[in-house]
Amino acid sequence: MLASKNILLIIGGGIAAFKALDLIRRLRERGAAVTPVLTRAGAEFVTPLSVSALAGRKVFGDLFDLTDEAEMGHIELSRSADLIVVAPATADLMARMAQGHADDLASTLLLATDTPVLVAPAMNVRMWQHAATQRNIAVLRGDGIGFVGPNDGDMACGEHGPGRMAEPLEIVTAIEAALADGPLRGKRVLVTSGPTHEPIDPVRYIANRSSGAQGTTLAQALAALGAEVVFVTGPADVPPPDGVEVHRVETAQEMLEAVKAALPVDAAIFAAAVADWRVVSASASKMKKTKGGLPQLDLAENPDILAHVAQMPQGRPALVVGFAAETDDVVENATAKRARKGCDWIVANDVSAATGIMGGTENAVTLINAAGAEDWPRMGKREVAARLAERIAQALA
Ligand code: C5P
Repeated sequence: MLASKNILLIIGGGIAAFKALDLIRRLRERGAAVTPVLTRAGAEFVTPLSVSALAGRKVFGDLFDLTDEAEMGHIELSRSADLIVVAPATADLMARMAQGHADDLASTLLLATDTPVLVAPAMNVRMWQHAATQRNIAVLRGDGIGFVGPNDGDMACGEHGPGRMAEPLEIVTAIEAALADGPLRGKRVLVTSGPTHEPIDPVRYIANRSSGAQGTTLAQALAALGAEVVFVTGPADVPPPDGVEVHRVETAQEMLEAVKAALPVDAAIFAAAVADWRVVSASASKMKKTKGGLPQLDLAENPDILAHVAQMPQGRPALVVGFAAETDDVVENATAKRARKGCDWIVANDVSAATGIMGGTENAVTLINAAGAEDWPRMGKREVAARLAERIAQALA
């Protein structure tokens, strides 16, 4: 899939730079040509010689190298690639990108380019969570920069949390998705999926029977059309799809935060079965069964994530889609839900036991939009996802 693709790989200065070497190897195995750019800080972690040996090409590093300029000017270097990948993207490099700096070769290339850019951040967890970094990420996303990772895990600095660079094969998958041709190429789409778990105490929770199948197939179908998909999932039964940016959450409140952090997006599809209520103050220790006494659980309403995004005064996605699982008066209830939530489309289905839809492989949906209700014939859930993805592509065209 990457045969004859040209990747300009900018290697920033972080311990994860060693993974960039493996990334080069993986990309070349798949037929891509890799033009490496090593920042000065990157060269503290990996040597130009190893980078160049693996890439089979010379390494670019200096903005003011006269030989390089005579052979290929930095403007041309920035534009001759199919994709620019920054791995690892340090906090500093991302800050300079967000500000539009051009004080070394890497930042100049990133400013001068009209080629899509994918960044694989890597940094200490506190640096990742810092308000300044999060601000910069929002700016970069708004500029259309794609992200892969970071992952959660143990870090070289001894801390644990988000900040580890995505693994080389995950970056390859994201590169393939970014280069996939399709009507949704260049579009960023958010999909929520799965149930949420609302803790009662450390071992018990309120949940529902959602498997995450519908959201997962939809995310897959959107990625297959070339979309950059952000997949925010509760604890689902089915594994998340490949080639999408996965954010795992447990509760509705965490899902809302992850959704907010993923914005801006071109379209947002809310396929998650969010628990309506949470326990007001979940117990920090396991609640004991006491003879004759029953525990009192005070419930509070969870935030409506779909309604929140659909009614955003600023930065609302161009298309907001909700789902409605109904057992009676499907069209009437779903039409009312569309108005109440303020979303553009509602994908409604009848989940009464007699239909066999809940937990089954088939679905029969009604698409409700401003024009009215459109009944789709009963078909496989994958086919429903593919047709929905096509319709989303048409709406965003
Ligand atoms: O109100 P109801 O739960 O029937 O609405 C279903 C739709 O709203 C789904 O698209 C679901 O993902 C979304 N939703 C949400 N946050 C909630 C409840 C529902 O995003 N708290």
